[in-house]
Parts: sequence; C-alpha cells; structure tokens
Amino acid sequence: PRNIYLSRHGESEWNVTGQLGGDPDLTVRGRKYAKCLSTFIDSEFTKEGKELPLVWTSQLRRTRRTVEHIPTMNLCWRALNEIDAGVCEGMTYKSIAEQLPDIAHERKKDKLRYRYPGGESYMDVIYRLEPVILELERQRGPVLIVAHNAVVRAIYAYFMNKSQDECPYIDIPLHTVFKLTTRAYGAEEEVFPLEI
Ligand code: F6P
Repeated sequence: PRNIYLSRHGESEWNVTGQLGGDPDLTVRGRKYAKCLSTFIDSEFTKEGKELPLVWTSQLRRTRRTVEHIPTMNLCWRALNEIDAGVCEGMTYKSIAEQLPDIAHERKKDKLRYRYPGGESYMDVIYRLEPVILELERQRGPVLIVAHNAVVRAIYAYFMNKSQDECPYIDIPLHTVFKLTTRAYGAEEEVFPLEI
C-alpha cells in the first residue's frame, strides 16, 4: 500500500511498572490513546471521504483494546505479538540486571542476535514478520498496524531501509503514529504524537 500507519498499543499496566511482555490491560491513559487514535483515523479517512484502512493488531489484549473504537474489522496476527522475553517475561530491566546479570550483559553485547532463554531474539522477530510484510506488500489500500515496541521497530526498519543492526535501537515512543508513504525506493515518514 502507499500508506502504512504504525503505532504501539496505548500505555499498559506493565508499561507503568516497567515489566516486560505478558498480556496486561491498558491503563486509563492507554484507553484515552485508543480514543485519540480513533479520532486521528477519523480525521485521516472519514473526514476526507476515504474508506477506512485495514486494521491489523497482535493477539494481545493491549493492541486489540487500542483499536476498539475504530469502526472497522480488525485482523489479529500472532506474528505481531511482542518479542518473547522467555525467562525474563514479567521482569523489569532492573530485576534482570540484578538477578540475571549474564542475560543483561549478553543482550547488551548483541541485542539484534541475542535470544532470551526460552524466548526470542530480534532476528527471530524479523523472520516471523516475513508473512506479515508479504501480505502488507500485496495490499493496495492503507493499513494501520497496532503492535509492540520490538515489532514496530522491525516493520519500521524494513520500510525505512534501516539496517538490521539499527533496528533494536529505533525510538518508537508510546502514543505516537508513524505514517509511512511508500515510494518506488524507500518510504517517507510523518510522525504524529497524539495529545491525550
Ligand atoms: O517494555 C515494553 C516492551 O514492549 C517489552 O514487552 C519488550 O520486551 C521490550 O519493550 C522490547 O524492547 P527492548 O528490546 O528494547 O528491550
């Protein structure tokens, strides 16, 4: 498609506590973002007299709740779920550094290739996103993808021609929509931090 809209989910309970992964619900602020996102989509499409985009989320509660006010069907992809932090799921960066310092150290050395014990690496995420990217490339109309930090980084990197090594460090803040306009070579981006 020409336009791909990328966003992380609204703020979750675990964004507040700093815990990794899991399937937490949105906070009050996160739910406000869900409303703002729907207003934003409305202004980009409905008010312009255009058909709504396809909406793709992960299978996790926080992304599905984030799109719940957008009046269109959404497709939930397991491949859009957040990087699996394996034994570190539910932990904070601080507790990992204290209790599992080897993991913190090894990951820092090679964040792209480091695979959490019992979980995934960024490379694993990049590979499992292949079918999503293929399907995305086939779409003619716009698509809104609401996913997670690592997953949005990987999709953004693919379309913006960022190297795999840069991918794990791309800054994708919460409550921000990245609108990518694809061209023959590469894409252009507009960034919309939504007021909540
Ligand atoms: O903290 C939110 C989160 O989406 C975690 O679930 C995930 O493990 C992390 O971000 C990915 O970011 P990083 O690869 O920088 O740890």
